[in-house]
Amino acid sequence: MTQEYKLPDLSYDFNELEPIISAEIMKLHYSKHHATYVANLNKALTQQSDAESKHDIDTQIALQSAIKFNGGGHINHSIFWTNLSPIAKEGGKTPTSGSLAKAIDKDFGSFDKLIELMSARAIAIQGSGWAWLGKGAHGLEIVTCDNQDPLVTKGYIPLLGIDVWEHAYYLQYKNVRADYVKAIWKIVNWSNVSSRYEKIATKSE
Ligand SMILES: [Fe+2]
Repeated sequence: MTQEYKLPDLSYDFNELEPIISAEIMKLHYSKHHATYVANLNKALTQQSDAESKHDIDTQIALQSAIKFNGGGHINHSIFWTNLSPIAKEGGKTPTSGSLAKAIDKDFGSFDKLIELMSARAIAIQGSGWAWLGKGAHGLEIVTCDNQDPLVTKGYIPLLGIDVWEHAYYLQYKNVRADYVKAIWKIVNWSNVSSRYEKIATKSE
């Protein structure tokens, strides 16, 4: 039987990321966009499972792009929600110590430099996609992905993602993606990014 994927619970209410991300955007982004990725992923996996049992390789191959797109959409958004936190909670609080802070100092010089470089990469993405802070073979890097391609397809472990699909900002920031990217740092949950990094560091020791 095919595994059923589910929309993950959020640890904050739709209006708690205001004024950086409006409740209206959050509601649509989570309840419509992310929910649709989950529904379409489950549908494609069920179809794949049926095709597999019928030894229908043509259908299995044809389903791969839907699995990549919707599976990527589910993976990316599931990480993104946890990468964010209300300003009144963890939002925007950069850690001053710990292994992530050390690695960022080593690979980028400072948090400010990382934020500057990652913002520039996110703003420059043509069309829809994501900017990521990821862990690769040689340390931390900023990597961009088109569409919903998950970061793992480029050989990196995702730590922090910025969704630059228009559905993530257009209702509030209109066509000015740069304003959205500049503002989002105020709600980045660095505690979540740090714990993601520490999990990888522990595994690779
Ligand atoms: Fe999105």
